[in-house]
Amino acid sequence: MKKLRVRDILLKKSSNEKLTVLTAYDYPMAFLCDNAGIDIILVGDSAGMVVLGYPSTIPVQMEEMLLFVGAVGRATKHSLITADMPFGSYQTSVNSAIDNAIKLIKAGSDAVKLEGGTEISGTIKALVDSGIPVMGHVGLRPQTSVLWDGYQTQGDTLAAARKIISDAKSLEQAGVFSIVLEMVTDEVTEIISKSTAVPIIGIGSGNNCDGQVLVLHDILGLYGKLKPRFVKQYLNLSEVIHVA
Ligand code: KIV
Repeated sequence: MKKLRVRDILLKKSSNEKLTVLTAYDYPMAFLCDNAGIDIILVGDSAGMVVLGYPSTIPVQMEEMLLFVGAVGRATKHSLITADMPFGSYQTSVNSAIDNAIKLIKAGSDAVKLEGGTEISGTIKALVDSGIPVMGHVGLRPQTSVLWDGYQTQGDTLAAARKIISDAKSLEQAGVFSIVLEMVTDEVTEIISKSTAVPIIGIGSGNNCDGQVLVLHDILGLYGKLKPRFVKQYLNLSEVIHVA
């Protein structure tokens, strides 16, 4: 299997092929995802919760992300790797966002992901202008939603729906190559997917999108603290390990 680039990911939308995205944070899991032909491996800051045991993604540090990205990079030959920029690594200035994104690319990632809409479109444009592919993330934003209203469905009022649609438009104009839509209503997901040229990757946002992303530890039954209602758990690996 050849190495996937941003261009291949964009082509999947134009050829109506659904995208598969899974998180991985270490060498053995990334090796398995890569071998299974997963399109994008997301080194998500969800690692902070499912691997490091933090209560949310807020405490995650750049140094921790760099360690995860390095391990995933060494295991991956096919999938496009995208690394989350942790909370605090892109908000303080455009220059520090570029510096931190470059660190993630040098550690082995092919792209970075930032949470936010219109308010960070300038930062995203600067990253793209520096040559760094960027994945957007709108709807529920785990890094800050936890501070405001917790993990709630997004876009269920007219104003909220309009805001998410305009956030997605701003990100597309800023140059992202794909957008994660988290816990957004089916209707809003469909409107955004149909009106953008870049792949829309849903998580808890229904089927009207161009692909799905899930946290590997959730689908394998390796993390019991939080069970999102939209996750299909394919096996109970915790139990298998216990028995072994
Ligand atoms: O960190 C992560 O795993 C994510 C997904 C929930 C999309 O951002």
